[in-house]
Amino acid sequence: MNPQVERAVEHFRALLEEQIARAERLEREPAAAGAHGKKTVIGVIGGDGIGPAIVAQAKRALEFLLADEIAAGTAELREISGLTIENRLARGEAVPAEVLDQIRACDVLLKGPTATPKGGAMESANVTLRRALDLYANVRPVRIPGEGVDWTFFRENTEGEYTLGSRGIELDGLAMDFKVTTDAGTRRIARAAFEYARKNGKRRVAIVTKANIMKKTDGKFTAICHEVAAGYPEIEAEDWYIDIMSANLVNPAIRSRFEVFVLPNLYGDIITDEAAQLQGGVGTAGSANMGDRCAMFEAIHGTAPRMIEEGLGDYANPESILRAAQMLLAHIGRAEAANRLARALEICCETERKLAVTGDASGATCESFGDYLMEVLAR
Ligand code: IPM
Ligand code: MG
Repeated sequence: MNPQVERAVEHFRALLEEQIARAERLEREPAAAGAHGKKTVIGVIGGDGIGPAIVAQAKRALEFLLADEIAAGTAELREISGLTIENRLARGEAVPAEVLDQIRACDVLLKGPTATPKGGAMESANVTLRRALDLYANVRPVRIPGEGVDWTFFRENTEGEYTLGSRGIELDGLAMDFKVTTDAGTRRIARAAFEYARKNGKRRVAIVTKANIMKKTDGKFTAICHEVAAGYPEIEAEDWYIDIMSANLVNPAIRSRFEVFVLPNLYGDIITDEAAQLQGGVGTAGSANMGDRCAMFEAIHGTAPRMIEEGLGDYANPESILRAAQMLLAHIGRAEAANRLARALEICCETERKLAVTGDASGATCESFGDYLMEVLAR
């Protein structure tokens, strides 16, 4: 055999064995309840680029809204340092071990965007954390109130193109990546989507794939979603392909009929940026990464390196991370605080809009938006 092929086959064999073991583990592991003690520990991670600036504003809001719990010792905001691109590159670890230890000691996380080096061996910190903490459901709500659009995306967050994303095969003149879909991994994201639909009185769940082309992986994803859907007879499960669904989202004639979406990882990544843009920009949407033991809340967007290069970091929009903070509050059972933050954001971003962050010097700074929000929260 050609030695290149031999090496590739060996590499593939190791990947297969590892993934079979992972799939078996997923089948065996019962859903574990969160290990919350009396105190809810909220880890706060600034991240890279515009991350520290936007996270600082979300932290102010959380400190204010959780002031009583923090004083009573039932909640703690804990700064976690070291998840910066400089430290990660210096250590040669996507998430340095001691940072991961600090993270594991928290119940929930509020995380700023982290830089992902293009190419090279360094894995994305996001992907590493999602995998290490098994945060399998990426939940991304998008609303356009004036149009009756109220979408919730359930993006599978640990499988698909991301499982082995940095471990493809490169031969002379040819490269291959792998996409992995397991029964157990699909079942749990499908359940999360249908449970959400049931609890929130939604009538439809759109299962979005490209199963006409990705026959094995997306074919399985669709089939398992329908198996799960059988347990929710009151909810209609519809099959859509990702290409036409991308068109549907920009079609005002039909987009408001969609409610809940469940989809494999990469399609979910792409279409949620599109959806966030329709809502007002990727700077406006929050994102929850949910597992059975831990959850991580973050902005939907990245570190905005161009804004930093152009010296516009102070003008970054904190709305997205504030929406993430709102989801975090709801997740830890502080519904009242979550609603207060939602109402204040509505006043600041929609109804009163005394100032607006535009992402450049024509608009307000991130900090002055934070001041405005704090003023509205205190009303
Ligand atoms: C997201 C981001 C990440 C992803 C990147 C930063 C790895 O785009 O959270 O959508 O691709 O999932
Ligand atoms: Mg993305």
